[in-house]
Amino acid sequence: MKRSIVITGGAGFIGSHVVRLFVNKYPDYNIINLDKLTYAGNLANLKDVEDRPNYKFVRMDICDFEAFYALMQEEKVDGIIHLAAESHVDRSIKDPFTFARTNVMGTLSLLQAAKLYWESLPERYEGKRFYHISTDEVYGALELTHPEGIEPPFTTTASSSEHHLAYGTDFFYETTKYNPHSPYSAAKASSDHFVRAYHDTYGMPTIVTNCSNNYGPYQFPEKLIPLFINNIRHRRPLPVYGKGENVRDWLYVEDHARAIDLIFHKGTVAETYNIGGFNEWKNIDLIRVMIKTVDRLLGNPEGSSLELITYVTDRAGHDLRYAIDSTKLQKELGWEPSLQFEEGIEKTVRWYLDNQEWMDNITSGEYEKYYESMYAGR
Ligand code: NAD
Ligand code: DAU
Repeated sequence: MKRSIVITGGAGFIGSHVVRLFVNKYPDYNIINLDKLTYAGNLANLKDVEDRPNYKFVRMDICDFEAFYALMQEEKVDGIIHLAAESHVDRSIKDPFTFARTNVMGTLSLLQAAKLYWESLPERYEGKRFYHISTDEVYGALELTHPEGIEPPFTTTASSSEHHLAYGTDFFYETTKYNPHSPYSAAKASSDHFVRAYHDTYGMPTIVTNCSNNYGPYQFPEKLIPLFINNIRHRRPLPVYGKGENVRDWLYVEDHARAIDLIFHKGTVAETYNIGGFNEWKNIDLIRVMIKTVDRLLGNPEGSSLELITYVTDRAGHDLRYAIDSTKLQKELGWEPSLQFEEGIEKTVRWYLDNQEWMDNITSGEYEKYYESMYAGR
């Protein structure tokens, strides 16, 4: 079926992988990448698909209701996959207003424009879909409950289930009560509520998914993995927050994009699906694996970059542990992560080392000011 789909935030990290997947897989669809191109948006992420006939880029702010309503009419949009957001927790601590504006008001603006346009059509909401991409951070934080003295398997070769059970037996489920702690997660939680309210109040066919930490190519180097790979390359300190004991659940970004494709086409309206890799890592262990991999691939003596580890003041309100249970998605729609973490991290490090020009372009100009403001004197 011919479809006209807007993917918001398509020039960002996850969005660019979703755009690439859709453009390659669905030549009959009209794929519109809508992005404001903030510091996090980068059209170089999509060089390989920019000339495809089924792809179009539109520079727009999701808060611009009039412009988005006009675009819906012009392009006869029948599907929205909404990823555009301010996405970095540390920035949200410094500038919460920008997060409320984009993540809350921007989402509301898209919802209202979609409502007005779809309700004006004879078929109304039939065949339409508003798919909102959210995060596991809205659920709050879990405890570290592994028994004292029993060390989890700190290796990449440990199986996913070993990693999954290494740090506790409680997880985030689709039914877990929202309990966001940072301005970022509070804004995402608020936007999730608006999306669900548009289903419950107006009957809009919405879906929400909550995903764990993504890693892979094209991630802006403010996030842990690309930041540390780049710092190792430049022999800069690796700023580990607190004691490095926080736990995150890591998923390769292309696996997230595959899940989004599946859920967009096969997911049930009004449902929520958790997406996660069953792959928990304590930050400091993940950092050691990263260092080992970068050193090996750069030809440095193994572990020589361990000396760059620098413990710095912790992030305010730093959530201790995230762990997603994605059983529902696996059972109902048959999705599974395709990559073991060992392969994923190797692929990721290789990509950043092979694409130094991409990184150097991003880290020239304003980036150094950001870096200074975030890390100087910490
Ligand atoms: P990102 O910061 O890399 O990209 C965000 C994109 O949104 C950028 O291209 C930016 O230009 C665009 N954007 C920002 N404000 C905009 C506005 N007002 N109008 C239009 N475009 C705007 O983010 P990401 O890491 O790719 O995350 C994408 C989505 O996935 C976000 O909604 C995020 O909350 C969610 N998410 C991210 C992760 C993760 O680990 N990165 C995990 C779960 C969920
Ligand atoms: O869980 C999903 C979320 O994952 C997404 O919703 C967010 O958009 C995404 O940014 C990510 O949030 P985190 O805060 O978990 O990611 P970040 O890469 O910023 O940090 C990962 C962990 O590493 C976290 O515990 C903080 C720590 N950290 C981070 C940085 C940038 C450090 O120790 N030092 C650092 O310099």
